[in-house]
Amino acid sequence: MYYRLQDCCKLVEGAKRGAIYNLQTGKVFSVNAGALQLLRACRHSPLEDVLDINAADDKVYLDFLHRLTEMNLGSLYLAKPSEPAAESPCEAPQKLDFLWLELTSLCNNRCLHCYATSGPCCEPDAVPHERWLSLISEARALGATAIQLIGGEPMLYPHWRELAEKACAENYEYIEIFTNATLVDDSDVEFFASHNMHVATTIYADNAQVHDTVTLNPGSFEKTLGAIHKILAAKIPLRIASILMKANELEAANIMELCAKLGVEVSPPDVVRPTGRGDDKDLLPTAYAKPPIRPPFYTDEESFARAHNYHSCLAGKIAITAGGDVIPCIFARNQTCGNILTKPLAEVLNGRSLDQCWRTTKDQVEKCKDCEYRYACSDCRPLAQGSDSGKRWLACSADCPYNPYTGKWEEEVHV
Ligand SMILES: C[S@@+](CC[C@H](N)C(=O)[O-])C[C@H]1O[C@@H](n2cnc3c(N)ncnc32)[C@H](O)[C@@H]1O
Ligand code: SF4
Ligand code: SF4
Ligand code: SF4
Repeated sequence: MYYRLQDCCKLVEGAKRGAIYNLQTGKVFSVNAGALQLLRACRHSPLEDVLDINAADDKVYLDFLHRLTEMNLGSLYLAKPSEPAAESPCEAPQKLDFLWLELTSLCNNRCLHCYATSGPCCEPDAVPHERWLSLISEARALGATAIQLIGGEPMLYPHWRELAEKACAENYEYIEIFTNATLVDDSDVEFFASHNMHVATTIYADNAQVHDTVTLNPGSFEKTLGAIHKILAAKIPLRIASILMKANELEAANIMELCAKLGVEVSPPDVVRPTGRGDDKDLLPTAYAKPPIRPPFYTDEESFARAHNYHSCLAGKIAITAGGDVIPCIFARNQTCGNILTKPLAEVLNGRSLDQCWRTTKDQVEKCKDCEYRYACSDCRPLAQGSDSGKRWLACSADCPYNPYTGKWEEEVHV
């Protein structure tokens, strides 16, 4: 007799334990060291060579296999089953999909936590308008379907409308402007609507006192909220982001409630990330924390295959800063992969640095590389890097309480 996992079930080994990934149902099951060893042995040998089927001591192993069968994860075979076709990890080259254009580093707010270190006085922006226009075409020709105009405050860039018009003319499927919304007037709202634009904005509280303490711009809350009402009245798709830090950490529930009242879908606020002005321990909230990484994990055929070759979030994305630098994500500010003032976009995209960023898999990340969840667990490299004392790109995530070497989930996470 033989025992095999179903073809849609993949056994992933960690340092201590293993996990069965059911690519059909999406579930990931943890198995202990003994079960891992048993399943490993079953891959190569008949069951009779692995276990003594009649021995009382081995009954526990047979029961385990029986349980896997009941869960539709594996099957017993009388004759040796044919080997499944060799795994073909997804080698499809990654194309560009999404880009952020940081039109300016100027901002009328001076938020305490700003990763872009934006404010009213900044380095002069370096990308000429003609170059932004050509980049929109170049990126589209290279495969991009989604674009976000961001900053700093993108509405302080004098010709942002022309760039949005260009993105429309190039048939981007998704065009978003990420704005603090303090400068939005009626004609901007009309423009968003007539160009099928999506809008993203940010609130830090449900009241001016706390919000303006974060933005350091008195009156900003009233302006942002006023714009939110106008945007919603015009039925323009709107996302509201929210970031918590010490100054507004008691506002999480108020923000969620305000968004619910406004009828805007919102996910729980994120915690300030350690980049730019946000890289300051004194800003960290003490009473609010995002939940740490925990099971259940989910998988599917495509994401499982991709996780062997590409980063789950970065692959396919680039950000272009107001200085012309190409970085893999707006938060990965020190991972410069080239500059579009000196090179065509295609050359940066084909360069080694960006390819390496896109190909950062958990097989390279400290600790994760020995974890059985590494092909299902999500990852934010800039966050892991920013939280690491040595600012290492391949540092493990600070908010993971799992120890793959003991197979145990620790109670406390020390961020
Ligand atoms: C840099 S802003 C640019 C768009 C616009 N000026 C605004 O604030 O909405 C984009 C988003 O990044 C968030 N952000 C800025 N610095 C951050 C940090 N250190 N950690 C997490 N989010 C941050 C802001 O709160 C905002 O939601
Ligand atoms: S977070 Fe946005 S609004 Fe605040 S300073 Fe940075 S760019 Fe300006
Ligand atoms: S963060 Fe890394 S170690 Fe933690 S569960 Fe995910 S893959 Fe495993
Ligand atoms: S999750 Fe991390 S890597 Fe992905 S876009 Fe956000 S900051 Fe960048």
